[in-house]
Amino acid sequence: MMLSYNLYKENPKTILSSACALETYHNYTLLHDDLMDEAPLRRGQQTVHTKWNNNQAILSGDSMLVLAYERLAQVDTKHLQAVLNLFTETALQIGEGQQYDMEFEHRNDVTVDEYIEMIRLKTSVLLACATKMGALLADASAEDAENLYKFGEQIGLAFQLQDDYLDVYGDSKVFGKKIGGDITSNKKTYMLITAFNRANDKQRAELEEWINKTAFVTEEKIAAVTRLYNEIGVDKLAKEKMDYYYEQGKQYLQAVKLPEEQKKELLAYAADMMSRQK
Ligand code: IPE
Ligand code: MG
Ligand code: MG
Ligand code: MG
Repeated sequence: MMLSYNLYKENPKTILSSACALETYHNYTLLHDDLMDEAPLRRGQQTVHTKWNNNQAILSGDSMLVLAYERLAQVDTKHLQAVLNLFTETALQIGEGQQYDMEFEHRNDVTVDEYIEMIRLKTSVLLACATKMGALLADASAEDAENLYKFGEQIGLAFQLQDDYLDVYGDSKVFGKKIGGDITSNKKTYMLITAFNRANDKQRAELEEWINKTAFVTEEKIAAVTRLYNEIGVDKLAKEKMDYYYEQGKQYLQAVKLPEEQKKELLAYAADMMSRQK
């Protein structure tokens, strides 16, 4: 949000309270997400629901959501309505995306298009909201604000594809999360959907067996599904899909009516995100 604002105005610290609002909101979603995903580790530390308990994670999360609104409400009155509307719409979409994410765990016919729409909702609209909000606060043109929204959205899709990739292929020490959590809970990632689409009969039967098993040794399931991913080559396909959205995102940034020189930092930020290992 601050880099987007900084495209137009100096001193991005002016919008720090709004930026903190989004950061607080984001961290709230992670508290609840870790509870829903039964994740033991985040940023190399025990998650809130494991260190304390479920109720504490719910309550802390709820309070962080309220704090997010408090911080957002500090924005100047000129921008208040637009900022609140954008944020509220975004937060509702994220809830929808999270609901799809969970429902998809129990469905075996999720398509790539449905997956992309799910990650657009659960992940990329927040980035889109941030880049657009920066533009709104800087009084950018409506056209620029929309292109910055689409930039954030497309980069966000690449970001979640990368997140799913690292969930399988990352280094737990660097990634800070437990590897294989998505495989354990049958998350319908691009990799799993593509593995099903591309598998031969034997591979498909094996995948199905693991997906349908209710009692299994976690590490065995993770190893078996990862081996099938490698055999089928979905790691490479996921990287290609990620690059596609990264390129799309860059095109929207290019459409923003400013000298290219001025966009360097935002571009570098996006590039950093694509090569992230955590
Ligand atoms: C989380 O997606 C999206 C939101 C919190 C809204 P993931 O469940 O894939 O995120 P990680 O892997 O736990 O960070
Ligand atoms: Mg999660
Ligand atoms: Mg999740
Ligand atoms: Mg993840």
